Amino acid sequence: MQVNNAGVSGVIIEDSDLISTVFANRGVVPDEQGTKALTQTYELAEECLQINYYGTKITVQSLMPLLQLSDSPTIVNVSSTQGQLESFPKESWARGVLSDADNLTEEKMDEIVKKFLNDFKEGSLESNGWPRYIGAYIVSKAAVNGYTRILAKKNPSFCINSVCPGYVKTDITSNTGFLTVEEGAASPVSLVLSGLHCFPMALHLVSSITELMWLPFDFQ
Ligand SMILES: NC(=O)c1ccc[n+]([C@@H]2O[C@H](COP(=O)([O-])OP(=O)(O)OC[C@H]3O[C@@H](n4cnc5c(N)ncnc54)[C@H](OP(=O)(O)O)[C@@H]3O)[C@@H](O)[C@H]2O)c1
Repeated sequence: MQVNNAGVSGVIIEDSDLISTVFANRGVVPDEQGTKALTQTYELAEECLQINYYGTKITVQSLMPLLQLSDSPTIVNVSSTQGQLESFPKESWARGVLSDADNLTEEKMDEIVKKFLNDFKEGSLESNGWPRYIGAYIVSKAAVNGYTRILAKKNPSFCINSVCPGYVKTDITSNTGFLTVEEGAASPVSLVLSGLHCFPMALHLVSSITELMWLPFDFQ
């Protein structure tokens, strides 16, 4: 069994109260408000994509030979609801590629990541339809979700999923989350122990203190 959990936000949180308000009022307060509370740089974005997306891929590739020896090979990629398609503007190129679930490839995921970084460098993120708020994190987790689907399709005898732990009080959120670490850990652990096998698509677990609910990752 393999759980890919390592992750960084790609930003520096400068105003924890504002970030917390944006998260607590999602759908009411626009996410873009959060940009006022953050510092985003190219270097942080690059690091975020390296760790969250390429790190997941490299770990899976490295441990695949060991997993193949297992009677119940399981991979859980810790992702985020931020990586959902709805985080991307409707007509954006990246959303178009990511929503074509049957034709996803690793090359296409890599291309999305490279194009995001190139547009960041050239100062054309907004004009090219990338999310403005925690863009690198959103792109990294969307790419992880896409990669999870590709991996699940390629390895039908494996149990491969991605999961969101919810908004948790940890370093990555500057401890602004609503859930404790134990509550946040419940989603990945439940998924590992669930015995669910080979769903045709990645799932995520929406967690709150009182309920756990399975939703397909492309429910938006
Ligand atoms: N907290 C949330 O609200 C939330 C919401 C959605 C998704 N997630 C996801 O949940 C996962 C865990 O995050 P968390 O909330 O537990 O945040 P965290 O407390 O900041 O933990 C991040 C973990 O990633 C490790 N890490 C970072 N860069 C690494 C690298 N280059 N190599 C190896 N390990 C590295 C860190 O190791 P060190 O301690 O050694 O630095 C740490 O153990 C992440 O994938 C995150 O994106 C969290």
